[in-house]
Amino acid sequence: MIVTKAVFRDFRNVRDEEIGFSPTVNVLWGSNAQGKSNILEGIWYFARGRSFRGAHDRDMIRQGYPFSRIGVSVEREGEKYPVELTAELPREGRKRLLRNGAPLSSVSEMIGNLRAVLFCPSHLSVVNGGPAERRSFLDVAISQLDPGYIRDLSLYRASYSHRAALLRLFASGRDVSSAEWEVWAEHMSDAASRIAAARYEYSLKLSRHVVSFFEEMTGGAEIPSISYKSHLLGGAEDGYDPAEGKKLLFEKLTANVEREAAAGSTLWGIHKDDLRLSLDGSDARLFASQGQQRSFALAMKLSEGEISREKSGEYPVFLLDDVFSELDSSRRKYITERLLGRQIIVTSCEPSVVPEGAGAARFIEIRNGSVAGVR
Ligand SMILES: Nc1ncnc2c1ncn2[C@@H]1O[C@H](COP(=O)(O)OP(=O)(O)OP(=O)(O)O)[C@@H](O)[C@H]1O
Ligand SMILES: [Mg+2]
Repeated sequence: MIVTKAVFRDFRNVRDEEIGFSPTVNVLWGSNAQGKSNILEGIWYFARGRSFRGAHDRDMIRQGYPFSRIGVSVEREGEKYPVELTAELPREGRKRLLRNGAPLSSVSEMIGNLRAVLFCPSHLSVVNGGPAERRSFLDVAISQLDPGYIRDLSLYRASYSHRAALLRLFASGRDVSSAEWEVWAEHMSDAASRIAAARYEYSLKLSRHVVSFFEEMTGGAEIPSISYKSHLLGGAEDGYDPAEGKKLLFEKLTANVEREAAAGSTLWGIHKDDLRLSLDGSDARLFASQGQQRSFALAMKLSEGEISREKSGEYPVFLLDDVFSELDSSRRKYITERLLGRQIIVTSCEPSVVPEGAGAARFIEIRNGSVAGVR
């Protein structure tokens, strides 16, 4: 899958721009604060339906303007016509998402049309941050491959909030029947058992790929491992049985309501899941060097691309924000070579991060929100 073109109208500091991309390597380069990351943010919007910086839609509209429109053309292997995705973001009122000119009813309908893997400096937190960062990594990755997963996550979140409200009422003295607890425990554990199955399967694949990336990148000198941690596994290290997971969570959620009401929160469930990342047997968060943590995070992202291809037959688009400036030259060289044969769009202050001629690279200079030159 490749992005052949992106258009921007009053999006952040980009006034009116149409940018064509090479199917191989694209380097968006220029001084600081010119709009390079803004352009990646606009493209990523179609993969995920939101900003990768956690910004609201209205924050992305050019300051002082009422409306922003962005679009991408996506070509897929074996398909004759590109898919045109458009987002119209008004400062007031509802946004509109369109596919080939026809309105889409929701963000989840758009997700999957452009599959992309994003890496930006803040993604280091997938290794050195808390469990929520790793759950979010899994959610973003799996959501792009499996719309059912998005539905299960929202089912889980909805029943989680209902049950949390019930816990608060119970804590303030309201009587709650065991049938009522059971209803919410059933809803939560049902969705959770499928989410855990997807996360478990994904972690197995992820681990396999990350091991092979490290093997190649370090010549076998550093050995990583990744394993999934969840209440639903119930201590099982090899293999996950969804029916068993569901039963385990249902029992926890019906047998401990007093304790949960006292704690003021739901103590069991997939909202507590984590990934255990280790390097040479030690916790990567606590023991790995800066460069090793960066390599680990990047290896996870590259693996995400491999898994996406296994599932769909096509590589996703790799959007890499300022990734090379953080790596030594041998790791940088390895990554560039490893990514040949995929479409990458990378930002950098220097065009020289990618050797000229590498995989027919296109160098796009960005100045003050505009394309200043292409070669
Ligand atoms: N809604 C907006 N309207 C107008 N300008 C904006 C808006 N949001 C951000 N900007 C401007 O966009 C500029 C460029 O931001 P961007 O993050 O894309 O820079 P960059 O080229 O990636 O720089 P760096 O090399 O420092 O990462 C910022 O200086 C910011 O002031
Ligand atoms: Mg930037």
